[in-house]
Amino acid sequence: MARQLRIGIIGVGGIAQYAHIPGYKELGDEVELVACADVNVERARQVAATYGIARAYEEYREMLEREELDAVSICTPNKFHAPATIAALEAGCHVLCEKPPALSVAEARAMVEAAARAGKVLTFGLHYRFTTEVQAAKRAIDGGEIGHVYAARVDAIRRRGIPGWGVFTNKELQGGGPVIDIGVHMLDTCLYLMGYPKPVQVLAKTYQEIGTRPGVGALGQWDWENFQVEDLAMAMIKLENGATILLETSFAQNIDVMERMNVRLSGREGGVNVFPLKISKEMHGGLYDITPAWLPKVEHPHREEVKHFVAACRGEHEPMVTAEEAVRLQQVLDAIYQSAEKDDIVYLD
Ligand SMILES: NC(=O)c1ccc[n+]([C@@H]2O[C@H](COP(=O)([O-])OP(=O)(O)OC[C@H]3O[C@@H](n4cnc5c(N)ncnc54)[C@H](O)[C@@H]3O)[C@@H](O)[C@H]2O)c1
Repeated sequence: MARQLRIGIIGVGGIAQYAHIPGYKELGDEVELVACADVNVERARQVAATYGIARAYEEYREMLEREELDAVSICTPNKFHAPATIAALEAGCHVLCEKPPALSVAEARAMVEAAARAGKVLTFGLHYRFTTEVQAAKRAIDGGEIGHVYAARVDAIRRRGIPGWGVFTNKELQGGGPVIDIGVHMLDTCLYLMGYPKPVQVLAKTYQEIGTRPGVGALGQWDWENFQVEDLAMAMIKLENGATILLETSFAQNIDVMERMNVRLSGREGGVNVFPLKISKEMHGGLYDITPAWLPKVEHPHREEVKHFVAACRGEHEPMVTAEEAVRLQQVLDAIYQSAEKDDIVYLD
C-alpha cells in the first residue's frame, strides 16, 4: 500500500465538517487525519474529538511547524485563504484551498508562485467540476457536439438566500457577496466548459437593495444591520476568443425561483444547458432537445474533489482545477468588483 498521507485541516467550520473531513475519512488507510487548527480552539477540540483527529491547535502556523504534514485543506473565511495556503506550501504541504481562490488576483498569484517554489500541488474547492452534469457536458463539448462556444449565460441566483449564519455578509472577511461566494462556482463551471479562455473585458454593476432591510430569510434571518456586501450583481465578460458571458448572481432578488445555479452555452452546432443537462441541436430538418437517459452518477462531488486531490498529491494525475485557472477566475471576480466600483469597463491584460 502507498504511504499514508498525513493530513491537516485549517478552519473546522461548516465545509470542513460537511466535505473535507468526511472525504478524507472515506479514503480509509490511505490518509491519516493528524491535526486540525481553528482560531476557535474549542471548536477545533470538539471537531478533533468527534472525528478522531489526534491533535487540535489554535494557531495553524504552530500546527504546520510541529506536525510534518503532507497535505492540508484550507477551510477558513476567504480573507485567510492566501496566508494559510502560502504558509502551508512553505511548510512543504500540498494544499486544497476552498473557493474563492483568494481576495484578489495579487493574492492568487502569490499562492501560485508559492506552489511553484515549493513544487507542491495547489488546487481549489470548486466541487461543481465533479458533478455528473458538468463532467457529461465537458465530454460532449470536447467531443465536438456543439461546436465553437461563442456565448454563455451564467445564473447563480437566490430569491431570499442570504446566509443567516457565518461571515458571508462581512466584506472584510469574505471580500464580497454572491459574486465571490456562489457566482464563483458557476463562473468557473462556465469557463471550464469553454476551455478557460482568457478574460479581456468586464462591465458589471452591483446592487444592495434587499440585504440592508429586514425580510423573509429562507436561509435564516440575516444580519441586515451589518450587511456589507452586494445582494445582486450583473456582469458582461468578454473573452479573448471573442466569446461573451452574461452573469447574474444574487443572494436576494425578487424572482420566481428560490434558487437557480445554471450555465447555458451557445455553440455553432448546438447548445448545452448544464443543470439539468440538455443538449439542443438542429438535426435533419428539426430542432431537438436531447436529455440523458442514464449517466454515471457522482454521488458526492465535494468528497470526490477530496479524493481527486489526494490522488494528485500522490502524483497520479494533475489536479483538475489548476492554479492558472484559479488566477483567471480571480481576475474575473476582481474585475467585476472593480467595474462596479468605478462604474466603467475594466480591461484585463
Ligand atoms: N465549496 C463549497 O461548496 C463551499 C461551501 C461553503 C463554504 N465554502 C468555503 O469554505 C470557507 C469556509 O466556509 P464555512 O461555511 O465552512 O465557514 P464557517 O464559518 O462555518 O467556518 C470557518 C471556520 O474557520 C475558522 N477560522 C476563521 N479564521 C481562521 C484562521 N485565521 N485560522 C484558522 N481558522 C479560522 C472559524 O473559526 C470557523 O470555524 C469559505 O472560504 C467558503 O467560501 C465552500
